[in-house]
Amino acid sequence: MRIFITGAAGFIGSALARHLIADSDHEILVYDKLTYAGLLSSLAEISDSPRYRFVQGDICDAAAVSTALADFQPDVIAHLAAESHVDRSIDGPGEFVQTNVVGTFVMLQQALQHFRGLDADRQRRFRFHHISTDEVFGSLGADGLFEETTAYDPRSPYSASKAASDHLARAWWHTYGLPVLVTNCSNNYGPYHFPEKLIPLIILKALAGEQLPVYGDGSNVRDWLFVEDHARALRAVFERGAPGETYNVGGNAERRNIDVVKSICTVLDRIQPREDGVPYSDQITFVSDRPGHDQRYAIDASKIRREMGWTPVVTFEEGIERTVRWFLSNRPWWEDIIARRYATQRLGQDG
Ligand SMILES: NC(=O)c1ccc[n+]([C@@H]2O[C@H](COP(=O)([O-])OP(=O)(O)OC[C@H]3O[C@@H](n4cnc5c(N)ncnc54)[C@H](O)[C@@H]3O)[C@@H](O)[C@H]2O)c1
Repeated sequence: MRIFITGAAGFIGSALARHLIADSDHEILVYDKLTYAGLLSSLAEISDSPRYRFVQGDICDAAAVSTALADFQPDVIAHLAAESHVDRSIDGPGEFVQTNVVGTFVMLQQALQHFRGLDADRQRRFRFHHISTDEVFGSLGADGLFEETTAYDPRSPYSASKAASDHLARAWWHTYGLPVLVTNCSNNYGPYHFPEKLIPLIILKALAGEQLPVYGDGSNVRDWLFVEDHARALRAVFERGAPGETYNVGGNAERRNIDVVKSICTVLDRIQPREDGVPYSDQITFVSDRPGHDQRYAIDASKIRREMGWTPVVTFEEGIERTVRWFLSNRPWWEDIIARRYATQRLGQDG
């Protein structure tokens, strides 16, 4: 198949692109604006493949999207392009509404136009896969899991903009018959993770000998999924999912933030101990909480397991060790980011 992937110079999209080139026969086109979060260096290992193409473009630019679709003639659009960082959405929500809401609207309209131009056989196969987050469901207490039927209750500008885009995607299925699939996934981590997010930020600050900032009391719980497991889930859904359906994707690996940070410290103590012999956990420091910080997210991923046979294969402990090792052996990738794009400073304090 021909897979048109928006946002694939980012963290999850690039993992999907690398997975499809390595493990499938699909042809891919990466459509990405290359914002601060978009890095061609994350695609370097597949850029020589004859099944890979790259187009720099904005999802809000209808004419550019239309041209790229007409040229590539995709069977699947996997839509990942978004502004993705909650803390940045607190500082500048407008960009999130523009990219995540308006951009998704433009993608749906252009996808519909493309879909309507296909013959019956290609229409039967065509899918628009909208990739979203579990954050649309709001915050859980100590118990319970997000299911596909859980009511939306977003709390941050980021999650509200993603919720809006999910509603638009489903409306294009119900109203226009565009074969839409939606996936809502928990927190990802792994190689090529942009260092503004918790896990890579902690690894890099630990190596730099800096304080390891933990928001609030560190008790917020997230369900962590290794990004390569997510890439396999996305592929299963756009290859075999039923149009109009939503699938939750999760790692079945709930951890408190403070325990995530301690896990990273423990791995580093073992494989790259500090020269002074002091444990990295001595660098942990509690800082003021994120405004509106959701307490707990946890996913019930039984539907995708039942219907697609997908389940995560990388445990949290294995995934953290692989991630730490990746950052240790890929310094040029992240040193360039720190030098030119983001110097690991705190974001999103103003509410
Ligand atoms: N990171 C997570 O843990 C997580 C979890 C669940 C769902 N998601 C969703 O998965 C998707 C990808 O997340 P990520 O963490 O890889 O994000 P990311 O921030 O790493 O990457 C986003 C990519 O989108 C591109 N982009 C942004 N605006 C664009 C525009 N207007 N036109 C074209 N390209 C544009 C960027 O250049 C970048 O390459 C997002 O939709 C996000 O909401 C993320």
